[in-house]
Amino acid sequence: MFPSHRPRRLRTTPAMRRLVSETTIRPRQLVLPVFVKEGATSPVEISSMPGVHHHTRDSLRRAAEEAVRAGVGGLMLFGVPQRRDAVGSGAVDPDGVLNAALADLRSELGDSTVLMADTCLDEFTDHGHCGVLAADGTVDNDATLEVYAEMAVAQARAGAHALGPSGMMDGQIGVLRSALDEAGFTDTSLIAYSAKYASAFFGPFRDAVESQLSGDRKTYQQDPGNGREALREVVLDLAEGADAVMVKPALAYLDVLRAVAEISDVPVAAYQVSGEYSMVEAAARNGWIDRDRAILETLTSIRRAGADVVLTYWATEVAGWLDRD
Ligand code: PBG
Repeated sequence: MFPSHRPRRLRTTPAMRRLVSETTIRPRQLVLPVFVKEGATSPVEISSMPGVHHHTRDSLRRAAEEAVRAGVGGLMLFGVPQRRDAVGSGAVDPDGVLNAALADLRSELGDSTVLMADTCLDEFTDHGHCGVLAADGTVDNDATLEVYAEMAVAQARAGAHALGPSGMMDGQIGVLRSALDEAGFTDTSLIAYSAKYASAFFGPFRDAVESQLSGDRKTYQQDPGNGREALREVVLDLAEGADAVMVKPALAYLDVLRAVAEISDVPVAAYQVSGEYSMVEAAARNGWIDRDRAILETLTSIRRAGADVVLTYWATEVAGWLDRD
């Protein structure tokens, strides 16, 4: 008449629950993505991402220092240029906004954090694609790799510790590795966006970077229905020399994250993208959800699924909560 197994015994008190809790989130596991806007004179909140700003070079420095003080593991920088062109020249220019901001942060923060840069052309092209276009308007994979190689060396030279090539071009990890090595940047890491899906959850980010894209990225980003293909991408990136691999977005792809974590022999990252952030913020603003609990629950799920590192726009704030615990 009594149940012979009582899992509830391990849930009886806060102390018991704390003792048996399986999944932890530490500030060092969180990476803060940040946006720096060329020519900006004051930070401007991104309307679709309340609480996230377009930074000036100065306000970026302050936000970065605050994040480092809170104990976050690293920063991922995105640049929003003033001028765009067909080949994304601003991306390879040492004085381009992203490279200039990397140099600022490296001189300010040194090696006290891991400075990462988005190695992709979409913010810098006037057509908004992640690569350069062929005469017929399609994205030219191999011509894009040549620009990525130049961009990567410029970012390493500016002070990035790690690069995040997010354009989903075939062969990008191998090409960047050789370009960096040839230029003497053998210690600059590559965090491969191995499994990046053509996702509706990037919507608010596209506002954030003032994306010029019309159409979609389905010829390079993955079909949301494909899991096996993610593993193929990971295997290729590992063979090409990736130092870490990433799944993006996170919450809608936890199964992919788990499968990647099972085969990867390098650290696994997950990117909790703009739409994941804005969904929780919007529901919280309507009083429909407990914001802070929902944030921790999403991050816990992403860690539980197998992410060693989580990129999240809440990184600094959450790091502060965890410290208080
Ligand atoms: C492309 C890039 C994207 C994101 C980061 N880098 C997506 C895209 O436009 O396809 C998305 C980040 C987010 O949504 O938070 N360089």
